[in-house]
Amino acid sequence: MRKDFLTYQAQTTPHPLGIEVQRAKGSYIYDTSGKSYLDFVAGVSACSLGHLHPKVVAAIKEQLELYMHVMVYGEYAQGPAIEFSKLLAQHIEIENATTYMVNSGTEAIEGALKLARRYTGRQEIISAHQAYHGNTMGSLSLSDFEERKKPFYPLIPQIRHIRFNAVVDIEKITSKTAAVVLETIQGGAGIIVPKDGYLQKVKKRCEEVGALLILDEIQPGFGRTGHLFAFQKYSVVPDILVIGKGMAGGLPAGAFVARNEVINTLSDAPKMGHITTFGGNAIISAAALATLKEITSSNLMQETLEKEALFKELLQHSLLEEIRGIGLMLALIVTSEEVANQLILKAQEKGLILFWLLFEKRAVRITPPLTISKQEIREGCKKIIHLLDEIETQAVN
Ligand SMILES: Cc1ncc(COP(=O)(O)O)c(C=O)c1O
Repeated sequence: MRKDFLTYQAQTTPHPLGIEVQRAKGSYIYDTSGKSYLDFVAGVSACSLGHLHPKVVAAIKEQLELYMHVMVYGEYAQGPAIEFSKLLAQHIEIENATTYMVNSGTEAIEGALKLARRYTGRQEIISAHQAYHGNTMGSLSLSDFEERKKPFYPLIPQIRHIRFNAVVDIEKITSKTAAVVLETIQGGAGIIVPKDGYLQKVKKRCEEVGALLILDEIQPGFGRTGHLFAFQKYSVVPDILVIGKGMAGGLPAGAFVARNEVINTLSDAPKMGHITTFGGNAIISAAALATLKEITSSNLMQETLEKEALFKELLQHSLLEEIRGIGLMLALIVTSEEVANQLILKAQEKGLILFWLLFEKRAVRITPPLTISKQEIREGCKKIIHLLDEIETQAVN
């Protein structure tokens, strides 16, 4: 399997982890030899309810009996997408919240950028240093990581950067700015949470100059921080909310959400200002609806904070400098890049899935399914501590 994987599938790195997956259930992935891996990564925050959550599977099966795909997005009224958008609107503070469903996080960012330009008639977009919003041309343009951008030039013009959490930089937002795009909690940068009042100050400045605030909740969204969306924790309401990853319990999905009068500008002058074939697809929407219902009607969000406390209590070691993050969006900051690499690779051998963050090389990602049990957390943390002991002993010898 691995040989064919390397031969027939385009690769993203020279050294993929390459587990030969056979099946996955709950908090575990099983390989073709029957070995189990406790999943502390959840498909990089996508499997919010773990693998094959029974309610998500039931919703998909039920929808499969009715129809899969009938028309491009936006032409026909289809129950699952409507119900998802309606339930979402009931759980967020955006006035007359209206949802445009797409296929991935990066496409949702593209839609949000287009919407901001269309609505304001302005071109400049401001994003943050060390931001990650996806990999298509528009979202890649928002990054300030030259090494990753340069080979793909020219990207979209009129992008400026501010430092996340630097209040003095907020002045760079002016009446020329169409939108400020920020991750509510910066993921790839090392799980950086906003300082008290920072997002509110950005929002106030946006209001003063007539710019829109776009918050990218693709990682923290759908309950991961103990709130349905992290912006709710920081008492700020975005003009455009961008979601994805955990939205459909492990199926590909994304969406951008805004006030009705804002988002509907995409349907006029030009008509079809954004179009997509599969956005809002019935199967994906049924999975998204089941996921949203489960997250909003269970204790999962509340338990997220108890689980964070348990991780922080169990994970104490001299090679561990800090545990960053909130709820189940966590990063272990270890003493060096080498320790992070060793820990991630050795953990896989021992049947525990950990992963890197994009930019902070000393970070080890911990973003398990929200459904992970406390017993499973204990099991995984024990392995981490044991491996850190091993790494430390090797370094000494
Ligand atoms: C904060 C953030 N924005 C956007 C994206 C892009 O989402 P996708 O990979 O679904 O295009 C990601 C993916 O990692 C992300 O973490």
